[in-house]
Amino acid sequence: MFVKAKPTLIVFSLLAVLLTACTAAATPVAPMETSVPTLAPTDTLVPTVETIPTSAPTLSPTDTPAATTVSFANDVIPILESRCLNCHGGRDTKEGLSFASFDSLMAGSDNGIVVVAGDPDNSLLIQQILNGKMPKKGPKLTPDQLQILIDWILAGALNN
Ligand code: HEC
Repeated sequence: MFVKAKPTLIVFSLLAVLLTACTAAATPVAPMETSVPTLAPTDTLVPTVETIPTSAPTLSPTDTPAATTVSFANDVIPILESRCLNCHGGRDTKEGLSFASFDSLMAGSDNGIVVVAGDPDNSLLIQQILNGKMPKKGPKLTPDQLQILIDWILAGALNN
């Protein structure tokens, strides 16, 4: 009886092994296939990254105010009058520099021109404000006022 039972056990064991092997073989296949679509969402992230450069034009609005027309008469003169005129073209004309009119401003000081149209970096007028030397006395220019002067020079320092 025991001798006869053994082959039966072996057959069952083999079947069990085969079944385990089949399920084991089947199981890895399924995750393999599911893992492939998992890579697809990774590609979906790429367009999201491309969306970031689209936000770069956010920098251009900063240029846009510079492009808007700054008026010499309406924007620039009031600033120079309130902060500089006492010493340059009002009660005094220090260094021969007068802001009393467009022509006198563009004529510059005893040392030469102080406004280089289109080039605020090389305009002594801007340099002297940036390095804190001007106005020599009284309240400093606000960043907005300085920006107006820079924008006006950038736009070509027009008598507009
Ligand atoms: C309190 C008087 C005073 C005020 C206000 C003043 N300045 Fe001057 N500025 C001077 C004097 C004095 C000089 C001559 C250089 C020096 O002594 O620093 C000068 C020189 C300059 C120069 C250099 C000229 C050159 O060729 O060397 C520039 C540019 C200038 N001022 C611009 C300005 C601007 C722009 C303002 C207004 C934001 C201003 N100044 C306000 C007194 C003044």
